[in-house]
Amino acid sequence: MSKTAKLILESGEYEFPVIEGTEGEKAIDISKLRSDTGYITLDNGYGNTGSCTSDVTFLNGEKGILKYRGIPIEQLAEKSNFIEVSYLLINGKLPNEGELKSFEEKIKSAKELPEGIHNIIKQFPRDAHPMGVMAAATAALSGFYPELLDQDLSDEKKERIIPQLLGQMKAMATAFYRHSREKGFVKKNASLDYCSDFINMMFNEGEDNLEQAVDPAVAQALDVLLILHADHEQNCSASSVRMIGSSKANLFATISGGIDALWGPLHGGANQAVIEMLDAINKDGGGYKKFLDKAKDKDDPFRLMGFGHRVYKNFDPRAKIIKKACDTVLEKLGIDDPVLDIAKGLEAEALKDPYFVERKLYPNVDFYSGIIYRALGIPTNMFTVMFVLGRLPGWIAQWKEMIESPAMKICRPRQIFTGETKGEYIELKKR
Ligand code: ACO
Repeated sequence: MSKTAKLILESGEYEFPVIEGTEGEKAIDISKLRSDTGYITLDNGYGNTGSCTSDVTFLNGEKGILKYRGIPIEQLAEKSNFIEVSYLLINGKLPNEGELKSFEEKIKSAKELPEGIHNIIKQFPRDAHPMGVMAAATAALSGFYPELLDQDLSDEKKERIIPQLLGQMKAMATAFYRHSREKGFVKKNASLDYCSDFINMMFNEGEDNLEQAVDPAVAQALDVLLILHADHEQNCSASSVRMIGSSKANLFATISGGIDALWGPLHGGANQAVIEMLDAINKDGGGYKKFLDKAKDKDDPFRLMGFGHRVYKNFDPRAKIIKKACDTVLEKLGIDDPVLDIAKGLEAEALKDPYFVERKLYPNVDFYSGIIYRALGIPTNMFTVMFVLGRLPGWIAQWKEMIESPAMKICRPRQIFTGETKGEYIELKKR
């Protein structure tokens, strides 16, 4: 017999179905709550609200588990690559050899960034934040592909727009970086894999777009980082993507909104904030105590960046992988970054401190990722853009799952109104 949950209100007793996920998580389906009882739920920050059912990503914050389409993140980080993981997230299964090759080819042969987008990017001040540029340029792409703006995109159009976005966003990121450095754009090179091509497009100093030797260690490190960032179920930006997409806004506008949500320092912007914090500690002489005290002081808005997570209350499995990768990459590249020792020391100190222990605050994915990005030569203000490139397949997968679901509805939460109830208009001069 299917389970139900009982709710007792002054008006009577009500039963609601209990939904159970494949990993055993349970939810009370309250979709009839308001019509049956007149009540709504109130859940500040949505910490107890399931906004959808989803087959894409599973995470268990208490046990530190993360799986894409059922496959543990540790296996994907070790054995897969970013393009294969993108296929997995978007299409729901690992590709066979032919499918993988064809998907990769489609990304490589996707349309070049339109000249108009290059012009838009070049209009930005060179010191503009790249996340604003990415959001603007992604939304602007909609103007160049009117045929891809249908309310209900056909499968054939989805097949076009998805690899095209994966290719074009990489080009956009590198185009703005080059603009910010007063350098010319480097075109994609189809002989390179996704990460090597990104590195070539960022750092190629040769004339005539000659392929430069891309250090495989750098490409490999980047690939792992992108895999780790590729999806994380209903986080702030994925939920924004679903929210925007639920109005049937086009995919360019939808992804642009996801980029904006990711920019914030409490979400993807934390990777930039972490390295800025670690640099500040370094400049200050390397002592952590002052910064830990600041983070614990309730009158100080400062937080230990890269620490804490809404869902992970044990450890973030991505942080474990990244911490190890960080050691490997720095060693392979022969880089001695004092900030790595500061990060490790700060982590050890925080994990002993009752404030962090009691609140179950552990390093998250962003704590060590910035150190790797910096070792790869990526400037600090581009860190969150790297997160965009990694998260793009996850956003697409979440959007696709939603728009293809027969249960899709426009997302429209309610509220409990707490404002003035007897307001009256007063003429301007009498106020
Ligand atoms: N430093 C100091 N104190 C913290 C931190 C931190 N990094 N994170 C949480 N706390 C404290 C809060 O002050 C609060 O204390 P209280 O119970 O005494 O009031 C308690 O821990 C719970 O914190 P909340 O803010 O309620 O937790 P929430 O789940 O809403 O926030 C968040 C999670 C936003 C990630 C938070 O931990 C944070 O701000 N971390 C720093 C920013 C960061 O690293 N963000 C990246 C997250 S990963 C990602 O998005 C890719």
